[in-house]
Amino acid sequence: MDRNDMRSTTRGLHTYYNPKVGSELRMDTNTNVLGSNPAAAAYLRNLKLDLNSYPNTYSDGLRDALAGFYGLQRENFVAGNGSDEMLNTCFTTFTETGDACTVPVPSYSLYSYFVALSGSRMREAQLTDDFQLDVDAMLGRPDDRSKILIMPSPNNPTGNCFRQKDIEEILSKHSGLVILDEAYSEYAGRTMADKVDEFDNLVVLKTFSKVYALAALRVGYAVTNLKVADMLNSVKVPYSLNKISEGAAVAALGDQAFVKKSIAFVLDQRPKLAAQLKGLGFEPFPTDSNFILARAPIDHRELIAGLKRHGVLIRDFGDKPRTGNCVRMTVGTADLNKVMTDAIVAVLAEAKR
Ligand SMILES: Cc1ncc(COP(=O)(O)O)c(C=O)c1O
Repeated sequence: MDRNDMRSTTRGLHTYYNPKVGSELRMDTNTNVLGSNPAAAAYLRNLKLDLNSYPNTYSDGLRDALAGFYGLQRENFVAGNGSDEMLNTCFTTFTETGDACTVPVPSYSLYSYFVALSGSRMREAQLTDDFQLDVDAMLGRPDDRSKILIMPSPNNPTGNCFRQKDIEEILSKHSGLVILDEAYSEYAGRTMADKVDEFDNLVVLKTFSKVYALAALRVGYAVTNLKVADMLNSVKVPYSLNKISEGAAVAALGDQAFVKKSIAFVLDQRPKLAAQLKGLGFEPFPTDSNFILARAPIDHRELIAGLKRHGVLIRDFGDKPRTGNCVRMTVGTADLNKVMTDAIVAVLAEAKR
């Protein structure tokens, strides 16, 4: 067997980011640095589970909790194994082989993977110089329309939100599905989940992996209108969200005090970290998320490797188009940011020698 035996549309795929990790401080995944979600952890400690029965087919327990939280109906939700599963479900539900899907550049790197899995084709739309949407580029020419347009807002890796008026213009002018990936929206205090009945082509994706501090359990969901949710649920893998994760997510959703606390420290620490980075010669970009993208003052590879030696992992975007020599780091608590910036200072000093 060799790669030519693979389906032609997946032949170009390679394994995803999978760093060798020991005891390093992980500032490379944009997760909540406060650690495990406390309500979910308490739920798991007290859990007595019948391992011999399936979870609910479509995670009705979680969907009911979400319906209460958003003031919508259970049938507005599709729940699954991370918002990554929701991405996969959207592309496999709505694209035929060869259809184009438009993805802004730079944005979340796994979009191209899910586009390839569905057999559809990536169309890239460059963001403007200030990393905002180019509405015309997103929409494409009238004779070259995409089936699905996808946008993360706040965007990863740049960190900024896209302008609301641009998102709404795209939603009204595009006739196909528009996926708004809100993995980090709690930090921006903005969501379009309340607009799913206003735009019949809008799917909003949310995750428990970031501010809810539940990345290990892989829970994500889509919020959309009743018709689209039904179509997505018909395609999504039944039982894909296991019982343990579903129960933990319900517990986590019920602890909004933890969410507030998690947002508050990021809003407090983020400008301080950005200012420190500037002082060290970095060029940080404006961000509405719990991470900062910054152009490094030394070679990005040297910085990443040096920080790893000092026990800190951050993410390298230095070789990618539009983010030349840039790195992305999670915003920590004051203590964690000190560990990270002390390590950066040490690496910069080593680079000068
Ligand atoms: C923009 C964006 N969307 C989706 C995801 C995936 O989230 P999940 O863990 O729910 O699959 C991530 C994770 O880093 C992300 O950055």
